[in-house]
Amino acid sequence: MDKSLRKAVIAGNWKMNKTPDEAKAIINDMKPLVADADCDVVLCVPYIDIFAAQEAAAGSNIKIGAENCHWAESGAFTGEVSAPMLKAIGVEYVIIGHSERRQYFGETDETVNKRVRAALDSGLTVILCVGELLDERKKGVTMEVVRSQTKIALQGVSAEELDKIIIAYEPVWAIGTGETATAEQANEVNHAIREVLGEIYCPKCASRVTIQYGGSMNAKNAAELLAQVDVDGGLIGGASLKADDFSVIVKAASI
Ligand code: PGA
Repeated sequence: MDKSLRKAVIAGNWKMNKTPDEAKAIINDMKPLVADADCDVVLCVPYIDIFAAQEAAAGSNIKIGAENCHWAESGAFTGEVSAPMLKAIGVEYVIIGHSERRQYFGETDETVNKRVRAALDSGLTVILCVGELLDERKKGVTMEVVRSQTKIALQGVSAEELDKIIIAYEPVWAIGTGETATAEQANEVNHAIREVLGEIYCPKCASRVTIQYGGSMNAKNAAELLAQVDVDGGLIGGASLKADDFSVIVKAASI
């Protein structure tokens, strides 16, 4: 499968970190370090930081995304933000289905699918997260879990819309734990995700989809993970909060 068919995407996921002033400072530090990137560079930040991040990133190759969006266009959903609202302020990317949302906020495959649909309807590019729990890996059902998460999340999504979909394979046991999947494990699951995309759409369609790995990717292990044929980038939590570390990962994806 030819890697050159796909653009590598390195995306940061800041989670619930950084005030607007802190966001500006870190992006100002990052800008010169990632200016030569030969991959797409995205920072998904808390809603409250979006304006500051966009201001700091203006004129650079850093694109700003959000960490979630609701499926309704508007309405009585206290505390939520809709996809058209994100679009209206120039947001281009949105993470959907992160395991922390599944784990702590009752996100299900069905609500992930509704959010994906809403994000696409607003013209946003979706970073769709899938991944197994430690218990599921131990029981040997990783592929089944990831296949079914992918299939349900993409229900009602057309082949033409796939160019607005990035998939992030994030084994839940590797997120924020310092424990990373081996390069082989990451590649194996990413490959299985590409196979399922081939079944739902067509192998050629699947070969064009960027599939990231996420889960304790850092400055030290990024090069090996990103060298895998089915790993087209990374979704980076902790290391995206440090300009130096993040830029090393971006450089590793630019080779
Ligand atoms: P981590 O987070 O890099 O801190 O493990 C990854 C993620 O949650 O997307």
